[in-house]
Amino acid sequence: MDYKVRTRVKQIVVDEAVPVGTDVTVLGLARTVRRSKEVAFIMVNDGSCMQDVQGVIDNPDNYPELEKILTGAAVRMKGTLVESQGKGQKFEIAVQSLDLIGEADATYPLQKKRHSFEFLREIAHLRPRTNTFGAVNRMRSRLAYAIHKYYQERGFFYIHTPIITASDCEGAGELFRVTTLDLDNIPRVDGKINWDEDFFASEAFLTVSGQLEGELLATALGDIYTFGPTFRAENSNTARHASEFWMIEPEMAWAELDDDMDLAEDFLKYLFRYALEECGDDMAFFGKWIDKELIGTLESVVASDFERITYTKAIELLEKSGQKFEYPVQWGVDLQTEHERYLTEKTFKKPVIVYDYPLDIKAFYMRVNDDWKTVRAMDVLVPRVGEIIGGSQREERLDVLQEHMKRKGITDYEPYSWYFDIRRWGSMPHAGFGLGFDRVVMYITGMANIRDVLPFPRVPRWAKF
Ligand code: 4AD
Ligand code: MG
Repeated sequence: MDYKVRTRVKQIVVDEAVPVGTDVTVLGLARTVRRSKEVAFIMVNDGSCMQDVQGVIDNPDNYPELEKILTGAAVRMKGTLVESQGKGQKFEIAVQSLDLIGEADATYPLQKKRHSFEFLREIAHLRPRTNTFGAVNRMRSRLAYAIHKYYQERGFFYIHTPIITASDCEGAGELFRVTTLDLDNIPRVDGKINWDEDFFASEAFLTVSGQLEGELLATALGDIYTFGPTFRAENSNTARHASEFWMIEPEMAWAELDDDMDLAEDFLKYLFRYALEECGDDMAFFGKWIDKELIGTLESVVASDFERITYTKAIELLEKSGQKFEYPVQWGVDLQTEHERYLTEKTFKKPVIVYDYPLDIKAFYMRVNDDWKTVRAMDVLVPRVGEIIGGSQREERLDVLQEHMKRKGITDYEPYSWYFDIRRWGSMPHAGFGLGFDRVVMYITGMANIRDVLPFPRVPRWAKF
């Protein structure tokens, strides 16, 4: 059979690019079949868009295969595009032939009814066939494209940083180990594991961030960005943490913290605008079924300025709020999701950029302020999700960087010698940030759990599919 000649449902239903009277062939999965003596209706979805196309079959008795076409079956439907007589769709297909290509019997788990997201996680291999997960996956693709478009149009170069690395960028020790050592027979010298015998002749891990290598490229190429998977062995079982997630990390040479905040705000607004303007079809679905206020919220965020406050100010506001938090606030503590959400949902009711965090709670590479108490860090917080972006101006002064690392207890400089070198020769101010792709997809679609925006989420105790 020839499957090349086909019309996508999107062309018919969303783009309305197919004139009435055209003969079309649609390939897809049957969603429902209804029949009476004189006529049968079949709804077919091919994944190109949310909507199904309706096929109308006169004299269904002439189609013996129709009996066997149940929900979930793969079909080929040929016919003429006509204006629909019924409500609910503008066009339909007057069917001339209908072939059953792949059967689905009554055990198919996705029968026409609402399923809980918890149930659908157990069948993550089938859930992309549902309306919600079809839309989520289309949105991931569209937003990934928008991200490349945004940076490419602004002269940023897309660079590829290693996934296997020997360094812990965030210094938080949340690394997955990469090894080919025989775990039943680990080589040792003086009681310690002999990494020299391992594949890379050293310890190796999956990267938590491409930033350190991104900085090297930025000092050479100017403006760069990464967009790749990152891994964290963080035992956080929350709706916002995944062990494998995608991150976009722009890095700009000749830039300071203000430039970094400007880029973060402009970039996020661009993505929100892109979703509203270019993905109306799927966005309407999320606005109707997932979060009724979604579209209005995104529109107002695009139209307003993000709030920018120092960490010190944020703590003051939280202390004065009179709100009882599970984790008490005082200057020096790391902001928890409950604090972040309070600031953005209650205090300001819009995205908030918090900057100049305490030195003790942030990473070694951030630029130290003159007080030696705070660093040039910034986090972008949004309602529902909390932290969506984390970034900073980087420490470009070698002596200050080393002093900062020493105070953080990092005394073995050898693994960082290459990181020091770009400060040794031709050092320049530079800044960047990381946007959690899956978190921005959550924010834009209104989906409440990161497990429901990753096609195959990896979280503690779950790596199925
Ligand atoms: O704040 P983070 O840890 O910053 C960095 O990794 C820096 N190296 C980025 C940079 O400056 N180039 O992570 C950045 C973002 C967070 O704001 C969050 O959106 C996301 O990555 N993120 C996670 N998303 C899902 N699951 C997790 N476990 C995440 N951890 C961080
Ligand atoms: Mg962070």
